[in-house]
Amino acid sequence: MKAIKLLTTALIVSLFLSACHSNTSDETTREDDNMNNEAASTEATTANATKGITQKDWGNANGKPVHLFTLTNANGVQVSISDYGGTITSFVAPDKTGKKESIVLGFNNISGYLAHPPYFGATVGRYGNRIAKGKFTLNGQTYTLATNDGQNHLHGGNVGFDKVVWTAGAINANNPQLSLSYLSKDNEEGYPGNLNTTVTFTLTDDNALRIDYNATTDKATPLNLTNHSYFNLSGDVNNTILNDWLMIDADRYTPVDSTLIPTGQLAPVKGTPFDFTTPHQIGERIAHVPGGYDHNFVLNKKDTSLTLAAQVTDSSSGRKLQVYTTQPGIQFYTGNFLNGSIKTDEGKPINKHTAFCLETQHFPNSPNTPSFPTSILQPGQTYHYVTEYRVSTIK
Ligand code: BGC
Repeated sequence: MKAIKLLTTALIVSLFLSACHSNTSDETTREDDNMNNEAASTEATTANATKGITQKDWGNANGKPVHLFTLTNANGVQVSISDYGGTITSFVAPDKTGKKESIVLGFNNISGYLAHPPYFGATVGRYGNRIAKGKFTLNGQTYTLATNDGQNHLHGGNVGFDKVVWTAGAINANNPQLSLSYLSKDNEEGYPGNLNTTVTFTLTDDNALRIDYNATTDKATPLNLTNHSYFNLSGDVNNTILNDWLMIDADRYTPVDSTLIPTGQLAPVKGTPFDFTTPHQIGERIAHVPGGYDHNFVLNKKDTSLTLAAQVTDSSSGRKLQVYTTQPGIQFYTGNFLNGSIKTDEGKPINKHTAFCLETQHFPNSPNTPSFPTSILQPGQTYHYVTEYRVSTIK
């Protein structure tokens, strides 16, 4: 009897002790996470560098659970993507010494995105960039969209594809590939047709993040999907992107009015600050571009094959980014509206010109500009295009 009593007491005491212990370690982990997210993510990066894909719970958005997926290739390059907004939250690539850092603006927690930074890493839709005055006419009907950028419609409206929760397809732990799907209902944000979209991210062993965009609709609709990653190849927003060398394979660009709507012209870049047909530093002529670069370039291509559209190198880190696409245009944006009010997880202010975007696309305001390549997807057609972001280093 005495022995049983003793045993029971020992059991209770040991259960109590182990409960205390696990509480303490939980709290420590949580506290560490909050205090040092940056360190936590760097640790995860190095500790978890097996080729494949991992998934973790990432809180809630719009009342739904969201997740963070991390794709790792054979060289330890890693891309994290959330099903919230189809958002690339980090893109970890080595510099010329092998040091791995993320080359895109992003946050370690969903809360950073719920504060709506300007499309950091997001999948943008239905229509990336602007539609003048939020109106277009299709098959005799005039459609009215939100005017969420002054008098114009921008990046899909009030709740674009960047602010919805996408559905992830099945993943294979050994294959760094993720498919996200979203059904945008007829009349969502004013657009016609039920639109089924799937975006597939694949991280290849030659260090390319390939993005395949697919969609079908049951009514004709404008469609212009893109990714809105903001790159800083140095991996540190304390450095601007003004010394980076940029090449864009475009002899022409689409000049804009004061509200950033293309005038409809395809103007030659020759002799202007828009001539990046040979590499120039981004900052070299930016003072001559009022507001900074925020323009669509008309890519020099005759067909829809996957070709090199743009290339950026950062001499100090030695990182090089190449953008390949099957699209006719690319928006080059120099983070002109970043003003330090948003801070990184480490508390660094994200200032003007500390990141650039290269958004592969159809030309802005195409639905109102018949001379531009059509951006209308018809029922029965399948929208499919590809963009690749390839990373490497120079000496
Ligand atoms: C646009 C900019 C805009 C930025 C963030 C870019 O695609 O061209 O004008 O400020 O996105 O919304």
